[in-house]
Amino acid sequence: MASQKRILVIGAGVSGLTAIKACKEENLDVVCYERIGELGGLWRYHENDLDGLPSVMKSTISNTSKEMSSFTDFPPAKEFPTYMHHTAVLKYLEMYVEHFGLLSHITYYQEVIELIPAEDYGTTGKWLVKIRDLHSDENREEAFDGVMACVGHHAYPMSPSYPNMDVYAGQIIHSHSYKTFTGFEDKTVLVIGAGNSGADIAAELSNVAKKVYLSTRRGAWIYPRLFEKGKPCDVCNNRRYKTLLPSKYTMNKLEKFLNKRMDHERFGIKPYHSVSSQHPTINDELHAKLLNGRVIVRRDVKEFSETGVIFDGEEESTPIDVVFLATGYQVKFPFLSDDILRVGKNNKVLLYKNMFPPQLKHHTLAVIGLIQPNGSLFPVFEMQSRWFVALMTEKCHLPSTDTMLSSVRSTEGFRARNFVQSPRHSLEASWLSYMDEVADEFGVKPNMAALLLKDPKLFWACFFGPCLPYQYRLNGPHKWEGAREAILGYKSRMYGHIKNGREN
Ligand SMILES: Cc1cc2nc3c(=O)[nH]c(=O)nc-3n(C[C@H](O)[C@H](O)[C@H](O)COP(=O)(O)OP(=O)(O)OC[C@H]3O[C@@H](n4cnc5c(N)ncnc54)[C@H](O)[C@@H]3O)c2cc1C
Ligand SMILES: *[C@@H]1O[C@H](CO)[C@@H](O)[C@H](O)[C@H]1NC(C)=O
Ligand SMILES: *[C@@H]1O[C@H](CO)[C@@H](O)[C@H](O)[C@H]1NC(C)=O
Repeated sequence: MASQKRILVIGAGVSGLTAIKACKEENLDVVCYERIGELGGLWRYHENDLDGLPSVMKSTISNTSKEMSSFTDFPPAKEFPTYMHHTAVLKYLEMYVEHFGLLSHITYYQEVIELIPAEDYGTTGKWLVKIRDLHSDENREEAFDGVMACVGHHAYPMSPSYPNMDVYAGQIIHSHSYKTFTGFEDKTVLVIGAGNSGADIAAELSNVAKKVYLSTRRGAWIYPRLFEKGKPCDVCNNRRYKTLLPSKYTMNKLEKFLNKRMDHERFGIKPYHSVSSQHPTINDELHAKLLNGRVIVRRDVKEFSETGVIFDGEEESTPIDVVFLATGYQVKFPFLSDDILRVGKNNKVLLYKNMFPPQLKHHTLAVIGLIQPNGSLFPVFEMQSRWFVALMTEKCHLPSTDTMLSSVRSTEGFRARNFVQSPRHSLEASWLSYMDEVADEFGVKPNMAALLLKDPKLFWACFFGPCLPYQYRLNGPHKWEGAREAILGYKSRMYGHIKNGREN
């Protein structure tokens, strides 16, 4: 073990945890530095808004179902509900950490403040890392063979500016700082942005506020968590056979389904774009809130006034006490210089498969989690981490810089052709295609043809059933013996928390 490589994982959020696990699996010497005193990243609720420290709201419930959000070799216990409250998600993370012995690799209160190529980078690919110990406030330097940046991208609020915003006398708060409804009782509130946070805040405040307006420039497709017969949205949609159907057909069907639940046009929230061109807004309550008038939809804000805002197409100012900007986040890597990773307009980043700066000579640096798939991120983080580790142990290789650059361009082209142009979609990916693409790089994509011949029952479950993350432990490096059973038995866990319910 003389040449055991030393890997740095920056951040102990979900992506950092999967990174440590993947390194351990390959016997790499892994160190994780986390700048706060706890693991779990934004799933750990913080009441107070600390600068750059993201956290869920007090009422946040995951918007991806538990079986589709699981780690590939660690199915959540039966007792966890189908969609988990953030406290349950954190519990699941703690169980994962315990089970795979990840804790001893994490050192808290260590902030990475600079990452530069080491002197011998040209020959070794090593990185020199500057770390601030937040206990003693002292800086030190350490060298690493590989670095996984797992710092999340919900830390730096993006706030648009509107004419006369500065004369407005009410409160303006970014969704980043919204934790609970207290303090907003009986207020007239405007939420700008109908993405996941905007919809959550509007729905929650409408229980206690005097009036809630929800302003959306482009409208939104609202996906309920519960699809047919209460099956989770992602369980219904992320299925292999669906990727073989003409996308026009599946998209039409999906759009019809969403409109059947709530006619988006009648409710004034229909986007100009089809369901395939816009990231989903997952919300179960908004439908009813729009119907009972507790949430009132308006188009874009034209300008602010002293007491409120003037909406597009209106002349009069609407009085508003508090404005929430649910307008997303800026992608930033303060410890990396522009020549390593530049973030352009609309959060565009030059990364091969959302992970590797293609221009570097050695691919010993990866960004984990800088992606917006239409499915759970947990298995995606894990997939990315496993790929990086396979590269570090030379089980596979990246193509030439030119090939990577042209791949980045074609991905950008795809996003530009298929999605509404906005910072919201710069990181967009189709969950199943991305998982398969990366899995294929290091041999863990399920071999469907072989399954069909060897194990038709499992083939059927993998092809027609939901693409459960355990599928990526059926073959290749570090396959898991329990994967088959986890796939065939998922239904008994999915609703396992419900007493007196029917199994399956
Ligand atoms: C409100 C909300 C709800 C969400 N719900 C879901 C959901 O239901 N399902 C889903 O799949 N995804 C959901 N997401 C997406 C979410 O981004 C991921 O689930 C995931 O938690 C992100 O994990 P992360 O590790 O990449 O980032 P984070 O959780 O942000 O963790 C990053 C960690 O890195 C640390 N760090 C940052 N910079 C440094 C540094 N320089 N040095 C040392 N440490 C550093 C931070 O302190 C933090 O602990 C949600 C996001 C939000 C905001
Ligand atoms: C994600 O997007 C792909 C491609 O557009 C689509 O086939 C799939 O059904 C979507 N999944 C969900 C959960 O909406
Ligand atoms: C779930 O919500 C988070 C935060 O609001 C969002 O980033 C993510 O894209 C949502 N998930 C899906 C599948 O839409």
